[in-house]
Amino acid sequence: MAHRIAIIAGDGIGTEVMPEGVRALEAAAKRFAIDLDTQTFDFACCDYYLEHGKMLPDDWRETLIDFDAIFYGAIGWPEKVPDHISLWGSLLKFRREFDQYVNLRPCRLLPGIKSPLAGREPGDIDFYVVRENTEGEYSSVGGTMFEGTDREVVIQETVMTRHGVDRVLKYAFDLAQSRPRKKLTSATKSNGIAITMPWWDSRVAEMAKQYGDVEVDKFHIDILTANFVMHPDWFDVVVASNLFGDILSDLGPACTGTIGVAPSANINPEGTFPSLFEPVHGSAPDIAGKGIANPIGQIWSGAMMLEHLGHKDAGDAILAAIEAVLEDGDSEVLTPDLGGNGTTERLGAAISERIAQG
Ligand code: NAD
Ligand code: IPM
Ligand code: MN
Repeated sequence: MAHRIAIIAGDGIGTEVMPEGVRALEAAAKRFAIDLDTQTFDFACCDYYLEHGKMLPDDWRETLIDFDAIFYGAIGWPEKVPDHISLWGSLLKFRREFDQYVNLRPCRLLPGIKSPLAGREPGDIDFYVVRENTEGEYSSVGGTMFEGTDREVVIQETVMTRHGVDRVLKYAFDLAQSRPRKKLTSATKSNGIAITMPWWDSRVAEMAKQYGDVEVDKFHIDILTANFVMHPDWFDVVVASNLFGDILSDLGPACTGTIGVAPSANINPEGTFPSLFEPVHGSAPDIAGKGIANPIGQIWSGAMMLEHLGHKDAGDAILAAIEAVLEDGDSEVLTPDLGGNGTTERLGAAISERIAQG
């Protein structure tokens, strides 16, 4: 049976990397005889919002709920639409309403890419950030009082629920248990954020009792960011609240050379709702329109999507093709963030050719 994939390219470089993501998917689908049924939607700031005054049509839920997955580029064009409007009207809405409570973000130093961290080789950086994706610091609970006066007060609450935290911790512990090192690191800040974070630590300790074979440690988020840079080899699976996970999942890939390669999977593990696959990066207005964005984050996200849909062999083949092209190191093919002078299209085409060749 065909897998139904909804494609939302979005804004800026989202529209440039998506065609390469789709080309790679099609190459893998052909090689592994996978039936993909794709449908494209123009839900973005440019120009859907500008035409309709909203990011999504009113029937977006019915429209998207029966897809097997959503393949997503990037949203955001702050010059025209304030970011909190566009992101809460699209990506963050999908994460919450489709209960994609796990945001799985691999950080891996790929062959052929030079890490900005001196002396680091592939193998030294190979971990996952598991980010809580539906609550925590990203809760729209709060408000403003005495607006416009010098007594103005702005409050935004962090909301953590036992259900919400335990389920993402379980996912992270299961992932750690499935990996050779079986190590889980928790991001905390229980010294300063004295209500939610000590409680987060207590949930981690409680869950750890069920995973005797998993080595568990924790760091406050400030020193954890330092350790990402100083000792990236310490990490295997890092579990974090929504905001801490957001920060760690840009820092981790930066340590692997460029955020342009970083993929992510916004997963509803129960399969009740479609999961969403997107690069970690945004719409990058500073380079949009130049055709030089790195498409690897999008292509690797497509590999994660195929794996999620039950085609691990196809996902692995995409990653192998990415690695082979990076190892070739042809500066005419690699995009500028990788030190080359290639284009999005050239790098994407080279990867798709490799996928097809096998
Ligand atoms: P960004 O990730 O778009 O860009 C940060 C920097 O990284 C820029 O210098 C950019 O040129 C570079 N970069 C990003 N992706 C790259 C790629 N594939 N190849 C080469 N270089 C790349 O982050 P930002 O500048 O903070 O945000 C820009 C817009 O994107 C904002 O509207 C923001 O809200 C939005 N955003 C959306 C998503 C998403 O849809 N998932 C994620 C992050 C940011
Ligand atoms: C990400 C992005 C989003 C987030 C923004 C665009 C709302 O930075 O996917 O990491 O903060 O989750
Ligand atoms: Mn982010």
